[in-house]
Amino acid sequence: MCGIVGVIGKAPAAPLLLEALRRLEYRGYDSAGIATLVDGHIERRRAEGKLGNLAGVLERDALPGTTGIGHTRWATHGAPTERNAHPHSTARVSVVHNGIIENHAELRAELEAKGAVFETETDTETFVRLVDDFLRQGHEPQAAFAAALRRVHGAFALAAIFSGHPRLLLAARQGAPLAVGFGEGEMFVGSDALALAPLTRRIAYLKEGDWVAVDGEGARFFDAAHQPAERRVTVTAVSGAAVGKGNYRHFMEKELHEHPAVLGDTLRQYLDPKTLEVRLPRLPFDPARIGRLTISACGSAFLAGMVGRYWIEQLARLPVDADVASEFRYRNPPLADGGAAILISQSGETADNMAALRLLREAGQRVLSVVNVPESSMARESDGALLTVAGPEIGVASTKAFTAQLAVLACLAIGFGRARRELSTLDEGRLAQTLLEVPSHAAAILEQDAQIRELAMEVAKARDVLFLGRGAMYPIALEGALKLKEISYIHAEGYAAGEMKHGPIALIDSDVPVIALCPSGPLFEKTASNLQEAAARGGRVMAFTDAEGEAALRRFAERVIVLPRIGEFATPILYAIPVQLLAYHVAVLKGTDVDQPRNLAKSVTVE
Ligand code: F6R
Repeated sequence: MCGIVGVIGKAPAAPLLLEALRRLEYRGYDSAGIATLVDGHIERRRAEGKLGNLAGVLERDALPGTTGIGHTRWATHGAPTERNAHPHSTARVSVVHNGIIENHAELRAELEAKGAVFETETDTETFVRLVDDFLRQGHEPQAAFAAALRRVHGAFALAAIFSGHPRLLLAARQGAPLAVGFGEGEMFVGSDALALAPLTRRIAYLKEGDWVAVDGEGARFFDAAHQPAERRVTVTAVSGAAVGKGNYRHFMEKELHEHPAVLGDTLRQYLDPKTLEVRLPRLPFDPARIGRLTISACGSAFLAGMVGRYWIEQLARLPVDADVASEFRYRNPPLADGGAAILISQSGETADNMAALRLLREAGQRVLSVVNVPESSMARESDGALLTVAGPEIGVASTKAFTAQLAVLACLAIGFGRARRELSTLDEGRLAQTLLEVPSHAAAILEQDAQIRELAMEVAKARDVLFLGRGAMYPIALEGALKLKEISYIHAEGYAAGEMKHGPIALIDSDVPVIALCPSGPLFEKTASNLQEAAARGGRVMAFTDAEGEAALRRFAERVIVLPRIGEFATPILYAIPVQLLAYHVAVLKGTDVDQPRNLAKSVTVE
């Protein structure tokens, strides 16, 4: 993952780099570092752990210089120590790097045989030593950088500065995003427009395989064949304003409380509340003419895709294949000509899903992405994009972006159903009405905070937790388990309730809370019987249901939380909120780092 940034400025670079890194910290927070050119020489400051540690180092030991590069790390090769922190430097060159150089071992052996002495275990250092070797042979920085690029394989973004070249910054993109920012007599590079937004809004994005030579006045772009290329400068819509926590303790808490607004904004985008019609922009494929649909995503976004599969199959009678991108991209899926796919992603940068996108397009599929970041690589490279109107999501655990993805998928399912003549206007109106009730019910659920916190006190004592659901509630059970694992570090599993007796029921004892997602509806009785089976074996059933399901569950459940009643179609969106809120409260009770849980990063740009 990692975030990279570079500045050729008029003022000291370090404070600008630090500010940009703050906006990139969502990409990783294992260590951070900055290098600048001071009197033509490379100097750097680095610190293990979060960016605050680097800020402390810079306060004690300021770093002058107006040209510099910065990095926030999510460790891949080499432990997250200060020694392995970027930038990596020799006396001639300093480099920051996001991604993986796959042939690093082979290059390292080659360079060591020539006498290079490595200081770290990182793959990045091979690139640094490679460039250094070309510089030592007398190449100019640009030629050395280009020659080194020809030798490395993998998916990465890189930025470099050079001793004795105070107004030069070279950067490259191969599989990981990179933006160039144009200021007034100042130039910037960064992993995304968000990092650069306070510095400039005039942005050019590097295309796959591009590299760029930046000086104080402008940028010269080169394509993958090292030929000069034109890249368009656009004005980004990304805001430069810092995103704050408001009166909330954590970003995650704030983002949970944004659910009603985000759901309202997203639904308004695709649903006309007056006519109760779904209004989709022009799609890159005609849903009436496709025989099959592929959905690819990672993590929570994949779970949204699983719900999407239930909805699209039910409402549009269109067969859907939903897979995690890391499996999809390597399983050589048979894809019929003229097929269609939906990719789902908050960041729009997730490496495995980007690879899935390229594979799909190469296989002649038309790809629609559902993304939250409008200028992301996925939005730009897809044949069409539908935006989730969730705003910036800073907490590493996805919350409002997940329910916004569900809202978009629900509208798509209705739109597909209508296009395929599987839904009448009456049905469409009924389903649209149900969706329009979601934001106010979401607000009501957030008011049940105290009740959910009480439940969290029980769950926080557990070592293992099971989440159960059937139908479209099954992916929400998986979401509950994923969220609990990632921020509270309690082991949790999500299961299809009917699958329990095929194995997981063996785990049940009085120490394992069984959290059931059990709204009234066609699957209620079935789920309730599975829960009774758990209770009969001493399991502690804690259920989310509605007023209609309450009485039946109270007979055996230890706790029942009664949520607002809504049409069955919209229950996955609503029930996602309390399970996310539950995970949040458990994490707070356990005292974990809720917004930046260990080992994780918000944007997963390595495979
Ligand atoms: C879970 C979570 C992750 C992401 C996943 C995909 O809370 O946040 O599982 O959903 O890393 O990220 P995007 O949506 O950016 O592709």
